[in-house]
Parts: sequence; C-alpha cells; structure tokens
Amino acid sequence: MGYKDVLRSKSEKDTRVIAIINQKGGVGKSTTAVNLAAALGDQNRKVLIIDFDPQGNSTSGFGIDKEGLEKCVYDALLHDATADELIQDTCCKKVFVIPATIQLAGAEIELVSAMARETRLKDLIEPIRDEFDFILIDCPPSLGLLTINALTAADSVLIPIQCEYYALEGVTKLLESMRMVKSRINKNLDTFGILLTMFDSRTSLSNQVADEVRKYFGNLTFKTVIPRSVKVSEAPSFGMPITKYAPNNKGSRAYIALAREVIKRA
Ligand SMILES: Nc1ncnc2c1ncn2[C@@H]1O[C@H](COP(=O)(O)OP(=O)(O)OP(=O)(O)O)[C@@H](O)[C@H]1O
Ligand SMILES: [Mg+2]
Repeated sequence: MGYKDVLRSKSEKDTRVIAIINQKGGVGKSTTAVNLAAALGDQNRKVLIIDFDPQGNSTSGFGIDKEGLEKCVYDALLHDATADELIQDTCCKKVFVIPATIQLAGAEIELVSAMARETRLKDLIEPIRDEFDFILIDCPPSLGLLTINALTAADSVLIPIQCEYYALEGVTKLLESMRMVKSRINKNLDTFGILLTMFDSRTSLSNQVADEVRKYFGNLTFKTVIPRSVKVSEAPSFGMPITKYAPNNKGSRAYIALAREVIKRA
C-alpha cells in the first residue's frame, strides 16, 4: 500500500516541517526523529521522516535495509528522483521514511557547484507536503550545505540538547546559521522547541544542564525530558522505535509525552 492510501490520510491541521538539528554529534537527533515519529503515528498523525544524514541512522532505526535500496534522498537532491520513488513504508502504519545511504555523503561536495543548491530539499518536499501532518528532517552533525537545505525547507527547528558536559557548546553557532538562513532565504523559520535528552536524574550534572538550558531558552524548552535508558539505545539494533520495542519503558513514555506536546504546539 502506498503512502497516499486513504486510510492513512492526514488530519485537518496544517503540515509542519520540522528540522531536528544540532551540529554537535550524538545528542539524540536520530533517536528523536525515529521515536517522535512513531509516537506521533500512534496518536494518529501522518508523518514522514526525511533521513538527511549519510549515516542513515533513522533509516536503519526503522529496520530499512540500506543495502537493498536502489535510491535514496541523494537521488532527489542531485538527480531527478521524485518523493514518490523514494518514500518507504515502516512498521508504524502512519509513518513513512525517505531513506539515506552513505551515497548522501557525496552531496555535500557535489551541491557546491549546483544551481539552486540551497533549495533542493524544499523542492523535493513541496509536491508532497500536504500529504502529511509532520515532516521531520533528521540532520547530520554539521552546518554544511545539507543542513542549510534543511533550514531552507523547514518551518521550524527542534534542537535536542544532551544533558552532558558542554551541552550548549556550538548552540550559538547554530542559532547564527538559523539567523543567516532566516534573513536571506526562509523568512518564516522559527524555533519549534528545545529538547533535553539523555537526562539522568541521579546526576547533578543532568540537573545543572537542564536548569541552564531552561534559563537560556525559557518556554521554548519542552516540559518533557527524555531520560537515559538502555532500552532506547538498544531499539535501533532491532530496527524498531522504542514504542514498539519496549512500550512500557520510561523512554517510550517520554516520547509519547513529547508527541503530545508537539501536537499541542503545532
Ligand atoms: N535517551 C537515550 N538513552 C540512552 N541512549 C540514548 C538515548 N538517546 C540516544 N541514545 C544513544 O546515544 C547515541 C547518539 O544518539 P543519536 O544517534 O540519536 O544522536 P545523533 O545526534 O543523531 O548523532 P549524530 O550526530 O551522529 O547523527 C546512540 O548510540 C543512541 O542510541
Ligand atoms: Mg543522527
């Protein structure tokens, strides 16, 4: 069944395109893309994840075999593949993925000399935008042309911040890139929310980081905090979101709560 099947139609609400972004590596971008998408799907929202990282973590996080793919998002950015050719089903009824493979690594360089290089992702999304309630873009850990494409295509950004040392390091640079894109290419870009990830209530460090982030970003920070949980880190190796792999786990409950908050804010 294709993604246009009537049983999988979207709600009446406007579509939200959200880039999940932080150039710092390993802060929980892909984990959030996969698990938030699954939790939104469970709440009857139709979701598309665009895997925009050559590591392809949100592709494999849904159990999609990267070796078996003929095309990935790269083919849309640099050749003329359409979204229809790329969209894959997942184990969650309302959730779909445009996959990435290592081939996408070449795009960062190949795009440099391309025409309209900043708007390639936007052009891919435009014709299918209205099919979905949420389109989540899982960004790579850099501020290169892929990320600029994501900022150009998005309505807003969701920034995961890991409750660890140097949590806010690089955030100023990220906000600067956002301002640059906002002033030149995408006037309506805004911040959807700041998400605290890998929170460990037993450590004072986690609490300190949470306080610091809330002081800096105020109400932009989601009330929901994602706890550190071994199950959350295991789920991708089974190709499942946490809501399917361990539905009663605290990580699963947190992503369900986050989905509710996201729906309220959208
Ligand atoms: N809540 C959590 N509890 C435990 N482990 C987690 C949690 N969230 C993420 N992780 C683990 O932390 C690592 C980094 O997470 P993830 O891949 O989502 O980050 P990322 O920001 O997408 O990384 P990259 O910048 O490389 O794309 C992974 O091994 C993941 O399984
Ligand atoms: Mg990632």
